[in-house]
Amino acid sequence: MSATAKKKAPMPDDIRARKGGEPLVSLTAYTTQMAELMDAHCDFVLVGDSVGMVLHGLPSTLGVTMEMMILHGQAVARGLKTAMMVVDMPFGSYEESPEQAFRNGALLMAETGAAAVKLEGGRHMAETIAFLVARGVPVMAHIGLTPQSINTLGGYKVQGRGDAAAELMADAQAVAEAGVFSVVLEKVPANLADEVTAAIAIPTIGIGASAGCDGQILVVDDMIGMFTAFKAKFVKRYANLGEQAEAAFADYAREVRAREFPAAEHIFADQAPEKK
Ligand code: KIV
Repeated sequence: MSATAKKKAPMPDDIRARKGGEPLVSLTAYTTQMAELMDAHCDFVLVGDSVGMVLHGLPSTLGVTMEMMILHGQAVARGLKTAMMVVDMPFGSYEESPEQAFRNGALLMAETGAAAVKLEGGRHMAETIAFLVARGVPVMAHIGLTPQSINTLGGYKVQGRGDAAAELMADAQAVAEAGVFSVVLEKVPANLADEVTAAIAIPTIGIGASAGCDGQILVVDDMIGMFTAFKAKFVKRYANLGEQAEAAFADYAREVRAREFPAAEHIFADQAPEKK
C-alpha cells in the first residue's frame, strides 16, 4: 500500500475470507469517543445490545429497543474509519418472521450505515438468516449463551456441555449453511469451540470460548474496568478505568469543598493581559 493510500473498512466478505488466518479482533462500542479510540485496533466493532446493561442500567438485554440500537449505531458510526460496524438486532425485532427481521435489519443498516447485523439463534433462525442474506442484509449469528434467551436458558450458564455439544454443533452448521459470514460462540467449552471452528467454513468469534477461534470479542466496558457490577470469568481486565474515574471524582469533591479548585490557572482576571 502506498503511503497515501487510505485503509478501507472491511466488508462482511472480507471478514469471511479471514477464516483460519490471523485472528479477527473485535470489541463492542456504544459511543463515538470509544469507537474512535478502538477503530485502528479492531477489524470490526459491534454495537451490542449489551448497551442496555452497560450504559442504561437495565437488568438484561431484553429491554433494549430498535430506537436505542439506531441511536448508538449512529454514534459509533461517527467514530469509525477503518473498522467494519455490525449492529445487534434487539430482542423482539426479528424472531416473529423473516419479513419482520428483514424490515428491522434493513432499517438498522439504513439508519446507522452498519455493514451487517447480528442476531441470536441457531437452527431455528436458519430460515430467517437465509431470507435476510438473499435480500442484501449480511448476518453474523450468535450461538451458545444467547443473552436474549436467559429466561428459557435458566441464566447465564455455560452452553454445549455433554449431550448439548451435538446441538451446538448442529446450530453452527445450520447458520453457516444459511449464509452468515461469521458466528459468535459465547460461553461454550474450549474443546467444543475448537471442534466447531474446525467443522465450519466461516470464522468463529469467541467470547468465553477458545483462543483457537478465528477471532475474539469482548464488551468494551468489561475489559477496561468501567462496568464493575460483576465480572464474568471470561473477561480479562486490561485497565481499571472505573477505579481511576472514582478516584478522580473523590479528589474533585475534596478540592471543591476545601476551596482548592478552581486554582489561579483556572480562573480569569477582569482585564485580558495586553498583547505586545
Ligand atoms: O451485545 C453484546 O455485547 C454481544 C457480545 C457479547 C458478543 O452480543
